[in-house]
Amino acid sequence: MYVPDFRFRRLRRTQTLRSLVQETHLQSTDFVLPIFVEEDIREPVVVASMPGVFRYPEDQLAQRVKAAWSAGVRAVILFGVSTHKDDCGSDSWSEQGLMARMLRTAKEAAPDMLVISDNCFCEYTEHGHCGMVAGDDVDNDKTLSNLQRQVVVAARAGADMIAPSGMMDGMIGAIREALDGAGFSHIPVMSYSTKFASAFYGPFRDAVDSTFKGTRASYQMNPANGREALAESMLDEAEGADLLMVKPGMAYLDVLANIRQNSSLPLAVYQVSGEYAMIKASAAAGVIDEKAVAMESLLAFKRAGADLIITYYALEAIEWLSQKH
Ligand code: PBG
Ligand code: ZN
Repeated sequence: MYVPDFRFRRLRRTQTLRSLVQETHLQSTDFVLPIFVEEDIREPVVVASMPGVFRYPEDQLAQRVKAAWSAGVRAVILFGVSTHKDDCGSDSWSEQGLMARMLRTAKEAAPDMLVISDNCFCEYTEHGHCGMVAGDDVDNDKTLSNLQRQVVVAARAGADMIAPSGMMDGMIGAIREALDGAGFSHIPVMSYSTKFASAFYGPFRDAVDSTFKGTRASYQMNPANGREALAESMLDEAEGADLLMVKPGMAYLDVLANIRQNSSLPLAVYQVSGEYAMIKASAAAGVIDEKAVAMESLLAFKRAGADLIITYYALEAIEWLSQKH
């Protein structure tokens, strides 16, 4: 009989031993909860492909944020679904526009909640692109000027953190300049620094009732490119980003680990709508154990190097963590 020299199983013998040598842990403060608010609806609208996720009427936002706080959520990221769309997304930089109103409402409802503003144009433009369209493409530099106006309005409305998701070149430098110039040098910027043109966003487009039919491949990254993925995040760090992000999550753990090794900034991961929808759908089909699979996916993000996790599972994950002991 062959006798092994080394035995890993010694440290796996009991639950106590396994816990003692566990390298990564999830905790409730790891999670950021996305909240969708739609103008001009009266009741929450279910997002068909994302069980448990709704678009809320504006007058229910305060209640949602308070409920999230009571459940242990300490950070939310707000997405507005505007009915005041135009070709450049001007409602997003109006002091009376949806983005500003959402931020004021959320901060007032739960002043200690970290309220993150998703800063983009796709929910505020008729064409659904993440910026100003000129000819047949998004005009990078004109979009930057609009983004500068938008983030100053968001900061004035009370945003604790600015999170630009549009993948425009120079967006971090432009935002930092605008915030600093308007007296918001203390407001951090979390860049969606490495964001791929991914099919996993499908259910989100449903969630925001998007009429968008085109492609974002001229600004979001090619899923095939690992070296460029690192360069995108490193450039945002050089431009002054305070936190970096990889999006989507599960199919991009290599990218997450690579950025972790090359930057000392806090690193976020976005477990996107398609990832959530896949777990929900297969659980509903009786194919997997939802809680076990969801928690394993979240733990994998931390092992790969994420410090914070934006996930539609935030509320359930916090509940599941509290059941553990
Ligand atoms: C666009 C945006 C996207 C998501 C959030 N903001 C992606 C896109 O439509 O290209 C995706 C979020 C998700 O899928 O959960 N700025
Ligand atoms: Zn966008």
